[in-house]
Amino acid sequence: MSSFAPRIIESRIVDVTFGEKVTVVQPANLYGCRIGAGCFVGPFVEIQKDVRIGERTKIQSHAFICELVEIGDDCFISHGAMFVNDLFQTGGPARGNRALWKSTRIGNNVSIGTNATILPVSICDHVVIGAGSVVTRDITKPGIYAGNPARFLRRAERGDREKRSSD
Ligand SMILES: CC(C)(COP(=O)(O)OP(=O)(O)OC[C@H]1O[C@@H](n2cnc3c(N)ncnc32)[C@H](O)[C@@H]1OP(=O)(O)O)[C@@H](O)C(=O)NCCC(=O)NCCS
Repeated sequence: MSSFAPRIIESRIVDVTFGEKVTVVQPANLYGCRIGAGCFVGPFVEIQKDVRIGERTKIQSHAFICELVEIGDDCFISHGAMFVNDLFQTGGPARGNRALWKSTRIGNNVSIGTNATILPVSICDHVVIGAGSVVTRDITKPGIYAGNPARFLRRAERGDREKRSSD
């Protein structure tokens, strides 16, 4: 087989509106998004156009946040968490046809576990999503959810949040 030089596109940070005191660990590919004050973005993260992230939210390494996702304040998006806006509803990828994309809204104080997948849904405030879970439906009641599909596990006890804030 012949060998050709591929087109190389460097990861970049372009057209991003940052609040004050944001930390970004390179390499990260961030474009056209808004990232609120006090946020942390770990390495190998991609955040796409028009995503909005509130204040003090942490996005850990290898997370992928696609267009049409909005995330609130004081959230924790763990390593390798993945968001989805294209459900392949017409038998394959929408191939850039935004009319087929769907949006996701994450409230405040939401912690999404390592390697969780979030399909286009709405998640209310004060929710924990377990590691490796797949969230397929809106979550409207605070608490801890896990599994594929993610199901309500239990309420978050007051002590859980106190433990969290001292981490
Ligand atoms: C979801 C979670 C918060 C639940 O913790 P917990 O309330 O202590 O739950 P338990 O360990 O008592 O488990 C309760 C049940 O849920 C199941 N379960 C727990 N976590 C699960 C997960 N992520 N996916 C699927 N099932 C899960 C357990 O197997 C158990 O099932 P059983 O009752 O049939 O035995 C925790 O397991 C988790 O996944 N946390 C995310 C951690 C993370 O990703 N951190 C990132 C930073 S390192």
